[in-house]
Amino acid sequence: MATPGAARSVSENEAWWKSAVVYQIYPRSFADSDNDGIGDLPGIVDQLDYLQELGIDVIWLSPVYRSPQQDNGYDVSDYQDVDPLFGTLEDLDRLIAAVHVRGMRLIMDLVVNHTSDQHPWFLASRASREAPTSDWYFWRDARPGTVAGEAGSEPNNWGASFGGSAWEWVPERGQYYLHLFAPSQPDLNWDNPDTREAIFAMMNWWLDRGIDGFRMDVINFISKDPEMPDGPLNRDGYGDGMPYFSYGPKIHAYLAEMKRRVFDPRPDTYLTVGEMPGVTPEQAREFTDREHGQLAMVFQYEHVFLDADGDKWTQRRMSINDLRDTLAKWQTALGDSGWNSLYWNNHDQPRVISRYGNDTTYWRESATALATVLHLHRGTPYVYQGEEIGMTNAPFAALDDFRDIESLDYYAKAVGTHLEEPSDVLDTLRRRSRDNSRTPMQWSAVPGAGFTTGSPWIGVNPNHSWLNVAAQRGTPGSIYEYYRALIALRHRLPVVVDGNFVAVHTGRDQIYAFRRHLGNTTLTVHANLSDLPVSFDRDDLTARDLVLTNYTPSRSGPGRLEPWEVRVHVL
Ligand code: GLC
Repeated sequence: MATPGAARSVSENEAWWKSAVVYQIYPRSFADSDNDGIGDLPGIVDQLDYLQELGIDVIWLSPVYRSPQQDNGYDVSDYQDVDPLFGTLEDLDRLIAAVHVRGMRLIMDLVVNHTSDQHPWFLASRASREAPTSDWYFWRDARPGTVAGEAGSEPNNWGASFGGSAWEWVPERGQYYLHLFAPSQPDLNWDNPDTREAIFAMMNWWLDRGIDGFRMDVINFISKDPEMPDGPLNRDGYGDGMPYFSYGPKIHAYLAEMKRRVFDPRPDTYLTVGEMPGVTPEQAREFTDREHGQLAMVFQYEHVFLDADGDKWTQRRMSINDLRDTLAKWQTALGDSGWNSLYWNNHDQPRVISRYGNDTTYWRESATALATVLHLHRGTPYVYQGEEIGMTNAPFAALDDFRDIESLDYYAKAVGTHLEEPSDVLDTLRRRSRDNSRTPMQWSAVPGAGFTTGSPWIGVNPNHSWLNVAAQRGTPGSIYEYYRALIALRHRLPVVVDGNFVAVHTGRDQIYAFRRHLGNTTLTVHANLSDLPVSFDRDDLTARDLVLTNYTPSRSGPGRLEPWEVRVHVL
């Protein structure tokens, strides 16, 4: 047991999350027990056997807190209650207990860079400069020499992620507040010790309730440069504030304080994963350093930005060389002292199989190849709901089919301000929108995909007629069964968890190959990440030590890989 107040590092045997596989549930879209069209907590309880069979160790629950749902729960109005859409606090207690009974764990989303504008803290703060929470948000006067409340008078030029200025004028206070996301998501002022105190108390309340850790939403944004200088202009005419808040002056201090106040005094260890857009490998290593770091792991973005040019809406062709180099770079940079989190998909990303894979001709092959590469890296893998059956992007027909605040905001801006053709913007949304990952989980071929018998809040992908859990569970050769085998391999072979990482150069661009070493054991992965077969100069891919492949029986010779073929050898 650690001494309260003293920072401690996590010993090897306490770091249970290193051998774990995490499954992300987006509750709205997972399982709807009351058939109102929106997934809920009892629906999740009903599917725990499924997750256990898959081999999952930890569930990450996207936000279920009380929320006006402007950003599907990433706008919290009460951190200590469950939104009636999803059930009750008692339902959540039942879920936690049912997860624990199965030997699994559960982590909650922690959204504390901002609250909802309907949170009582903010309502009081905007109403009066005398309120106890007056200074819990970033309030600033208009730019000197301008007329407050008029366009161009904002305190600085920063743009918000979901469009427009990052500042919103409030006449009652005669000031602007900062929102890095939508105006309904005001940023919390972490520089105020009372704000931090309230957040830490809330976190402790959840840990006392029995959860096993937190996924921390945009947690690297919590410390802002107090000067808040103008940023370099982007194409919408707003400044980019990232240099002033993505790695702010107090970020390490605040996370260290959180660790001291929340985690260190407890006898158990917790999975803490910080979502950190823009984080560099060196910074990620500092945050996750075994001795001095503050978090178990972070989510970085580099590998999911390789098909974007500047901003996420501008598509470019992803090059396999870039992908290989980026993956290997992060593996090497976090090396032995840091720890990676490994993901292809989440609720903010279009489906990877439709981006980096081939969701038609090589649907099964590319889903399993991408999974293999990811899961056999060093780090903790995350499976996003539906990934384990190869769910794809959705064929959204019209603007009405989209629900996401970011996508709708982008459409308005692209058509209204940039004067782009509506059909071109729709094409962009079809490829890039976050709604691609938010369509309902495809449990079966029936109408509503077994997700709901009601009218789903977002359309079910029509490919559920053949792409669904029922078709794959227990079916040899399915993507689902392959994920099970892959997860079982991690649980069986210590080299998958603890082996170091060494990139292997085959001289062929489309092959990503690497080794993992632990003691006398070497695990080797060869993956053809392309639609073309490839021959290369290797003779050590014999059937002898093959432990996993997605082509059975392996069709080609030792020095040849079929499209999206992977082979995993252990010696
Ligand atoms: C994170 C969440 C995303 C949300 C944003 C604002 O990036 O993952 O869904 O919109 O933060 O909370």
